[in-house]
Amino acid sequence: MSLSTHRTTLSKFVIEQLKNSPDGQELAALLIDVTAAIKAISAIVAKGALEGNATNAVGADSPKTTNVHGEVQGPLDLLTNEIMLHQCDWGGLVAGMVSEEMEKPYDIPTEYARGRYLLLFDPLDGSSNIDFNVSVGTIFSVLDHGKNSNPTQADYLQPGSRQVAAGYAIYGPATIMVLTVGQGTYGFTLDHEIGNFILTHSNLRVPEETDQFAINASNERFWEPPMQRYVQECNAGKTGPRERDFNMRWIASMVADVHRIMIRGGVFSYPRDNKSNQNGRLRLMYEANPMALLIEQAGGAASTGRGRILDEQPQGLHQRIPVVLGSRREVERIERYHREFDAGTDKPFVSPLFNERSLFRPEARK
Ligand code: F6P
Repeated sequence: MSLSTHRTTLSKFVIEQLKNSPDGQELAALLIDVTAAIKAISAIVAKGALEGNATNAVGADSPKTTNVHGEVQGPLDLLTNEIMLHQCDWGGLVAGMVSEEMEKPYDIPTEYARGRYLLLFDPLDGSSNIDFNVSVGTIFSVLDHGKNSNPTQADYLQPGSRQVAAGYAIYGPATIMVLTVGQGTYGFTLDHEIGNFILTHSNLRVPEETDQFAINASNERFWEPPMQRYVQECNAGKTGPRERDFNMRWIASMVADVHRIMIRGGVFSYPRDNKSNQNGRLRLMYEANPMALLIEQAGGAASTGRGRILDEQPQGLHQRIPVVLGSRREVERIERYHREFDAGTDKPFVSPLFNERSLFRPEARK
């Protein structure tokens, strides 16, 4: 018998945490439906190449549709989207849903009752990693519609500070679900033997200090000067203004990078860049907002570089947003660099490697 049978399951945990909130039991029931979808996605992802549908590779016979962002949708993107929709549409708990994979909101079928919540999700984040067996995930956000009627698009455009729940699942060596209902951030590990998520990471806290950052450094030439300054200072290590060495990690799967930061600390950024006139790459409503709430509830900070992500008034369902999140002190430092740059008072860092005594100057190599 698994020891897990004596531990706290996710269902028990959310029912307990929400027992005194008005409509809390409906929210708990919705989170349990989301969990059922995540268990199904976990099982499918874990089959890897054993199942025809378990690869995201777009071969000759695979559908070649693109999503609203122009990204190729593989079979797994579409299948996991269907799983999320159909595990959550029938129970009278949601009024509508928004997915990264669908341009328009999903209307609840007429035969089902409408609930008061709006569910927004990215069903398979980081899915370009699936063919290499690298961790992928699901990210979701829950907003309160406040009434059991069909929502308009405008009803979804609530700032992230109004989320009533948020979470992600990471499909790695273990499947872990990290969740908040606004009373701290908690992690649950899927026990495959008994089919339950078990509380394993109680009251997660993101360390304030860190010596790790996560960023797609190949974009450096496209970033704004404050972000270039931050990363150049980290890279200068002990001999630079930070006076200590930093380490860089980039999995290119937001759930995996954010999960590492939840556990070990660090700062994750996909900043504004001028690569393709993008306001960052990540989506506000179902990537940045839920991750920002989870990180803040764990004592970290989440910013665009110029303000709190959770205070952003969304302009569109699929809008992008610059993201800087993780260990509080580092996020505050990056915000300061943006303020100084905007005020024209910044002092950009010049690496000693490129100054008079540069190791790379021909005379230094003699
Ligand atoms: O959702 C987009 C996403 O896959 C994130 O999971 C990840 O952090 C990022 O894109 C990776 O971007 P890039 O391919 O530019 O490294």
